[in-house]
Amino acid sequence: MAPLDLSPADFRALSRKISDFTADYLERLPNLPAFPLNVSGEAVNALFSAEVPIAPMGERAFDPLADVFALSRPNSPRFFGYVFGSGLPIAALGDFAASVLNQNVTAWRSGPAAVTIERTVVGWLAEAIGCSGFSGSLTGGGSQANLMALCMAREAKAPANENGAQGGVIYCSDEAHMSMPKAAMMLGLGQKNVRRIPVNDRFQMDISHLRDAIMRDLREGNRPIAVVASAGTVATGSIDPLPEIADICSEHNLWMHVDGAYGALAAMTVPEKFVGLNRADSLSLDPHKWLYQPAGCGCLLYRDPAAAQRAFSHTEDYARSLSTDPIESFAFFESSMELSRPFRALKIWLSLRYFGLQAFQQRIAEDLRLARILADSVSAEPQLELLAPVELSAVCFRYVRKNADLDHLNLEILQRIIQRGKVCISNATIRGQFALRACVVNHRSTEEDVKAVVSEVLHAANEVSG
Ligand SMILES: Cc1ncc(COP(=O)(O)O)c(C=O)c1O
Repeated sequence: MAPLDLSPADFRALSRKISDFTADYLERLPNLPAFPLNVSGEAVNALFSAEVPIAPMGERAFDPLADVFALSRPNSPRFFGYVFGSGLPIAALGDFAASVLNQNVTAWRSGPAAVTIERTVVGWLAEAIGCSGFSGSLTGGGSQANLMALCMAREAKAPANENGAQGGVIYCSDEAHMSMPKAAMMLGLGQKNVRRIPVNDRFQMDISHLRDAIMRDLREGNRPIAVVASAGTVATGSIDPLPEIADICSEHNLWMHVDGAYGALAAMTVPEKFVGLNRADSLSLDPHKWLYQPAGCGCLLYRDPAAAQRAFSHTEDYARSLSTDPIESFAFFESSMELSRPFRALKIWLSLRYFGLQAFQQRIAEDLRLARILADSVSAEPQLELLAPVELSAVCFRYVRKNADLDHLNLEILQRIIQRGKVCISNATIRGQFALRACVVNHRSTEEDVKAVVSEVLHAANEVSG
């Protein structure tokens, strides 16, 4: 039987090679295409969809790593697609160390250092965004954090854990993230019980429509549970009126969840945009977005730890804490949907210790400035039209040509841009119109990089016109 371990000497030698390979990649990154060129499904399948090897390949197993890296590019300084952080190398080293250690972050009983570090990091994040005193846990991402938040809301306002679901209604804006209806589906609340509230001209939830919808449900005998406010919608980065939503929630005894997966970390830099954030009952934020951490690392914060316990505590005897000490008896699985959990906190802890919080506040300020520069360049270009105000760092716009089908034209432009690989942007639907969308949550981007977005759009538009 072949041993599955590496000798320490082999591990040292191989990890040096991998570290050289990844450092070379980072060195070349600014000059690589922002998106792989000439890629087809068939070609990628041919590279990677092989049979499982039965016999050992040894170090040759690593040979295709060059292809894997060549066919990926989210770390590029010119990657502005979706909302996805640019991956700090220091955090990658944290992930590497965490994987070698392989600490399961279930409970203090199993991992005293890791559990304490995660609780510390969660406290740091809460304090940094003006929510001191909130506790919580790291998650796989924002979708998981949102699902857990709605589960807590359901258990707080229409308890189902004992006797099954009683139903209930959730309110969020038309611009809320798709993870909201998905969470309602998974919790058995049903998509049809998610009321999508129209937005105003700044893409914020319209409060009078929210009030009307709640009153209508109460009249009809439905059971309102929670309002989900967005602090940074995925398309335009708009922030819902948090204080007004908080007032409505207290008036009607509803749970207030803030989906800050995209935006909430910017509260470290521009707190004036996030007034009312600390009135939430729960709040999602994504270190793998605007803290530039490698995927997948989200975070759920909440005001009342007992509410998390009511939603998630279900401990079998074998996992029960043997201690009565308040610190040593702590278990994440009592307040999270996860049991086995990776040591996500290590990379954040190392990143914040290495660079200091201020460096992150400054880099977010720089991303906001770059988005402003991009928006100004769009506005200065007669053939381009800004489609939404730029609240945070997402810029939605389109190319305009007389008598053209603009949705179709801009789709073609986007496809050309991606094929050319000089910048990577994505798309959004803004009031039913196809928009080009660039989102700056990238610690590597410079002014030159964001300006390249405009020149690429103009270049692609010329190509499309033939
Ligand atoms: C506003 C918002 N909420 C939730 C999510 C989901 O986060 P994740 O991709 O980490 O699951 C996103 C992702 O872009 C988002 O922008």
